Amino acid sequence: MGGLARLEYRGYDSAGIALADKEGLTVLKAVGKLANLDEALSDAAPQDAVAGIGHTRWATHGRPTRRNAHPHTSTDGRFALVHNGIIENADLLRAELRKTGVTFASDTDTEVVVHLIQRAYDHEELLEWDGEVPGCEGETARAAQRLVAALRSVTARLQGTYTLLVLSSEAPGVILAARRSSPLVVGLGEDENFLASDALAFVEHTTRALEIDQDQVALVTGKGVVVIGHDGRVLPLKEYEVDFASDRATKGSWPTFMEKEIHEQPRGVADTLADRMDALGRLALDEVRIPESLLRSIDKIIIVGCGTASYAGQVARYAIEHWCRIPVEVELSSEFRYRDPVVTEKTLIVAISQSGETMDTIQAIRHAQEQGAKVVAVVNTPGSTISRESDAVLLTHAGPEIAVASTKAFTCQVTACFILGLYLAQVRGNKYGDEIVDYMDKLEDVPAKIQEVLNRGENVRHFAHTMKDASSVIYLGRHVGFPVALEGALKLKEICYIHAEGFAAGELKHGPIALVDEGQPVIVIVPTPRRLELHNKVLANIQEVRARGAHTIVIAEDGDHSVDEFADVVFRVPPVPTLYAPLLTVIPLQIFACELAKVKGLDVDQPRNLAKSVTVE
Ligand code: AGP
Repeated sequence: MGGLARLEYRGYDSAGIALADKEGLTVLKAVGKLANLDEALSDAAPQDAVAGIGHTRWATHGRPTRRNAHPHTSTDGRFALVHNGIIENADLLRAELRKTGVTFASDTDTEVVVHLIQRAYDHEELLEWDGEVPGCEGETARAAQRLVAALRSVTARLQGTYTLLVLSSEAPGVILAARRSSPLVVGLGEDENFLASDALAFVEHTTRALEIDQDQVALVTGKGVVVIGHDGRVLPLKEYEVDFASDRATKGSWPTFMEKEIHEQPRGVADTLADRMDALGRLALDEVRIPESLLRSIDKIIIVGCGTASYAGQVARYAIEHWCRIPVEVELSSEFRYRDPVVTEKTLIVAISQSGETMDTIQAIRHAQEQGAKVVAVVNTPGSTISRESDAVLLTHAGPEIAVASTKAFTCQVTACFILGLYLAQVRGNKYGDEIVDYMDKLEDVPAKIQEVLNRGENVRHFAHTMKDASSVIYLGRHVGFPVALEGALKLKEICYIHAEGFAAGELKHGPIALVDEGQPVIVIVPTPRRLELHNKVLANIQEVRARGAHTIVIAEDGDHSVDEFADVVFRVPPVPTLYAPLLTVIPLQIFACELAKVKGLDVDQPRNLAKSVTVE
């Protein structure tokens, strides 16, 4: 249950567990938050369970109800299974099973798998598997071996993505797992072992973890783990150390994870910047294992990501294009491969993902690699699928981000992309060493400036209380302020459930300004007055909306009093180079959305309909 609580942020429509003891399997499920399952468990938990599997659900097939909650069981209750992913040929398999007389208890794609396993186990001629079953012998070992054979036979028929955990009363102390594209990590404890979508679930018990790769099966008992390859051979264990301290995955004294994570941004950005320069003052990204000669040969960069990650990529584009003088495209991961993009071995893909498990982005990098492109992943989760499948990884060091609404990941992603851009400029000779040192020095000033903006947070929280009844908010930005407008609007949508839209400020007069009516809240990110051509145009945009009755909320640099006469509310940020401004101007927008969600009595960390990591396409 502790593990499920750590992963609840990944999906929380409903939850369930199955426990195995010598009597058989006990399955408990509840709709809604995990607390409801906790309650059900307190009344009916078997006291001598030897193994268990659990699941918190983000509904893909079938409404979030108790009958659709996982685990799903075979009709005779001897097999229980949880699943993360989508079985794309479920309808076909369901029809086949119905013909054999199976009746389904749920509307999920998952349920077909557990019936197939039961049928394979009981009736099929299976490809024998006779490997070791740690800590088991005799009947139980043979049952576990047959279960491996059944699982391998069934997964060979599945199309789509899955992480499956299987428990059976035939072999009570054994858990089987299989994965294809969806995340799975095994934790190695003392006389106990763990399986989870994310190491966060067990990191308080052990930081020793195993990578389980595509189409592999893991057989786990309290005494040991066996990893079985696609061809049935037992594989050597690939152990690694989970590197984040579990204390960073708790709220501590903060009322919500989001508030904690907003305030962790100075540390996250500083940690992301740390140790990037070698003794000669050159950027040294040893984890970017792509030959410099290849980096010099690229003629295009495509940045892929979803949601906040894609907005971080949009900020990065301005910097990387300016520094490296090569074209940079930013494409939503879910659109990328369907637009038939022009990708060659001279294209560098930058995949941005906090979780490293976003299926849209996983599929995008796979498509790009099939076209011969190299992929650099900017991820916050070491050992995640995207980090493992990419050719190089640039880790953000934000620490675990639990709140569904991404905050510290955004500023750390932007920072990491700046580092990548400067590294490319260094390798390609676009910038001299002393110039890069200057850019890095100014980046290293940013964490303290973020802290300064956080220190001014009270007036933003006060403003949020005045917006309790807002029904729509417009965000405007220009240049690097435009992706910040998109990000600010996304925050409001996802945790306050208010319609909000970010626009390029210059785009307003081409249509969207028709939205502006008396009192319409319009939040405007104003560039530094040191970039006059940008600054004055945004000032004009503020006047355009104000002339139509807008309630103008302006984010402007300290000392820029040219905005005062056109702004109803002003939030100030310390001066930084134009390209770095998003690292500061996004902060008031994060605080605003977080506070307004609290004012409205909404669930800040686990907003409705969402999950932290969208591991299905
Ligand atoms: C951001 O607040 C949202 N939670 C969502 O847009 C998120 O950024 C997106 O799903 C990408 O997630 P990733 O960074 O883990 O790939």
